[in-house]
Amino acid sequence: MLDDPPLIRSLRTAVAAAPADVPLRLHLAQLLLEAGRSDEAVAEAAVALQHAPGDAQARDLMARAMGTPPPSPAQPPRPQAGFDWKAAQEQVGDAVPPRFAETPVRADGQDDSAGADVWDVEGPSTVRLADVGGMQDVKDRLDAAFLTPLRNPELRKLYGKSLRGGLLLYGPPGCGKTFIARAVAGELGAAFLSVSVNDVLDMWIGNSERNMHEIFETARRQAPCVVFLDELDALGAKRSRTAHSGMRNVVNQLLSELDGIDSAANQGVFVLAATNVPWDVDNALRRPGRLDRTILVLPPDGPAREAILRYHLRDRPIENVDLSKLVKITDGLSGADLAHVCEAAAERALLDSVSTGTVRMIGMKDLLAAANDVVPSAEPWFASARNVAMFANEGGMYDDLVRYLKKRRKL
Ligand SMILES: Nc1ncnc2c1ncn2[C@@H]1O[C@H](COP(=O)(O)OP(=O)(O)O)[C@@H](O)[C@H]1O
Ligand SMILES: [Mg+2]
Repeated sequence: MLDDPPLIRSLRTAVAAAPADVPLRLHLAQLLLEAGRSDEAVAEAAVALQHAPGDAQARDLMARAMGTPPPSPAQPPRPQAGFDWKAAQEQVGDAVPPRFAETPVRADGQDDSAGADVWDVEGPSTVRLADVGGMQDVKDRLDAAFLTPLRNPELRKLYGKSLRGGLLLYGPPGCGKTFIARAVAGELGAAFLSVSVNDVLDMWIGNSERNMHEIFETARRQAPCVVFLDELDALGAKRSRTAHSGMRNVVNQLLSELDGIDSAANQGVFVLAATNVPWDVDNALRRPGRLDRTILVLPPDGPAREAILRYHLRDRPIENVDLSKLVKITDGLSGADLAHVCEAAAERALLDSVSTGTVRMIGMKDLLAAANDVVPSAEPWFASARNVAMFANEGGMYDDLVRYLKKRRKL
């Protein structure tokens, strides 16, 4: 804020540097309140409450900030008057660090720094498989198909198991493919280079082939490095993009990168790919030695849902939440759906606090109501998956899927 008095300005800077310092933030909130800027005070108090849910001073400040009459008395009195939700969100957005760090991918093609890596690589991934809740089948398969052979060169020699090619993760959206790929990088102590294939195709029309090569060159420079190709289906022959001239060249470039992955130049480069629609993936990419190992990533099971819910509730002011009950009633929801449930419950409690003027914690009734409202986002996916399982399971490619659908009586 440009028009902040000096004291408020320097406190803001201090708070930005130490976002978890509750007394400091409350000091700022107090000054804002005294300056008649109750909306901003509410926002700061809300963040303080996130860090220290039970803090009496924070609650008191919040109550006082919300009790202050709105600055524009001409407005008809509405329950939320005086609380600028949007401004509060913007402020909170500034103060709270982002909860997920996505690798930014250049999509504009305006490269200003010639010579620098165009593809941003995350340092060694800190997510490990232990951070992935539940999903024991997936972990077992990752171990057998990927991690164990990689870690045991001797065993590999004994069984003649080649390291060529990579691993394809598939399943409904929002169920943890990206998360798991990052965890695999963590297990390998490798950097993580996440690339959306759609971006590769869009970046510089006609240059997609070179982009694909550049991605692998970057990975070689950063080795050990996991190259994660998201939305692999964008390269698929069955998509409308076939019209995109040169698509074939991009596929061929990727094939030659994959075929070369076993060579000395590619030491420490690992390829993982993900798609929601494996049946649209170019068949050439799935031949032996390429992305021939597939892993189905399904909606989170009980332990996974518990881990996801715990994660999304960890910094929120909650009370008496019966997690096991919540886990039970959220069967079939994706990781993204579960995040949404927690978000919606928090919003419900916050709005309620604002309208009653009494701050209250997020309770079971907020979470149950939010869970009731959410529509499982994986359902439409299962509708198309069902057809594929019934009519296009060539060579048992989708046996895992068939087994799951049968178990859930969806087939
Ligand atoms: N088993 C799990 N344990 C913990 N978090 C999970 C798990 N599965 C999914 N998530 C979370 O769910 C969200 C969606 O997962 P994501 O990997 O983006 O899905 P996808 O790539 O399949 O669309 C992410 O926030 C992720 O952290
Ligand atoms: Mg993803």
